[in-house]
Amino acid sequence: MAHDRPRALSGIQPTAGSFHLGNYLGAIRQYVALQETHDAFYMVVDLHAITVPQDPRELRANTRVAAAQLLAAGLDPDRCTLFVQSHVPEHAQLGWVMNCLTGFGEASRMTQFKDKSAKQGADRTTVGLFTYPVLQVADILLYQADQVPVGEDQRQHIELTRDLAERFNSRYGHAFTVPSAHIVKETGKIYDLQDPSIKMSKSASTPKGIISLLDEPKVSAKKIKSAVTDLDTVIRFDEENKPGVSNLLTIYATLTGTSIADLERKYEGKGYGALKTDLAEVMVDWVTPFRSRTQEYLDDPETLDNILAKGAEKARTVAAETLALAYDKVGLLPAKH
Ligand code: TRP
Repeated sequence: MAHDRPRALSGIQPTAGSFHLGNYLGAIRQYVALQETHDAFYMVVDLHAITVPQDPRELRANTRVAAAQLLAAGLDPDRCTLFVQSHVPEHAQLGWVMNCLTGFGEASRMTQFKDKSAKQGADRTTVGLFTYPVLQVADILLYQADQVPVGEDQRQHIELTRDLAERFNSRYGHAFTVPSAHIVKETGKIYDLQDPSIKMSKSASTPKGIISLLDEPKVSAKKIKSAVTDLDTVIRFDEENKPGVSNLLTIYATLTGTSIADLERKYEGKGYGALKTDLAEVMVDWVTPFRSRTQEYLDDPETLDNILAKGAEKARTVAAETLALAYDKVGLLPAKH
């Protein structure tokens, strides 16, 4: 299908309830920016969420919470297509075709799978988790996406997407756009506030190391103030030797749109306390309206569900066309209508 703007597509899991600062700065902020320049599709990936055990009621509630937060962060349903993955059945359908194109060894090399399955043990690891990246491939290819805004940790999954798109196209004839990862370097990775050698993440971070966007603002402020820094007191961006301070500077710069160089100048001769106090304030000023906007959507689930229904309808027109093309190329006999 011809489209004049480049396509962007991304997905985010609904599992945490509250998104964390790493989700926002690493990915969601990019979603918001790209809706101005791209034909953008964003989805809450509930089918990916069930690759690990979920409480059904919580999953359903968290899917709304995720969508509400995306809207609160600035996604505008008039300027992008926001939907829930399971509302568009073509994801599972193209996922199957992609499973049949993926090598077992190839899927076994996905580092996120290796990490997660090593933690859970083989018997508690589902086949769904194994093919998680392949479903992600289908998510992306269905929309002929040119760019995929994601955090640094998703690079390998985008590489797999490119490989499978090329494999399909050369085996069966052109059906898919080969997408690129869109990773904004500086903010691609936000680190844990207590252990800046690891990424801020729901699975790896301790509660003190992670800023949950829906927490009470004063809780978030306190976490910033007790972030781990290092022994000397100079405020300088140096990820190698001063990862804690550098992480705070990245957060500060991104939330305020200031350059790191300007921040270094501003805090010359001042200690970490001043930086942390100011950043805690920046944080509170950001999360306070974010929380209330999210709550407004959650208080009106009918409006929220209508936005998601419209999004799914828009998404399906694109997804159905791509799926029909892929089925045809593979040689599946079309059903007679
Ligand atoms: N695996 C992605 C993550 O954990 C989520 C995701 C699912 C996704 N489908 C996608 C991201 C499609 C980009 C495009 O962040």
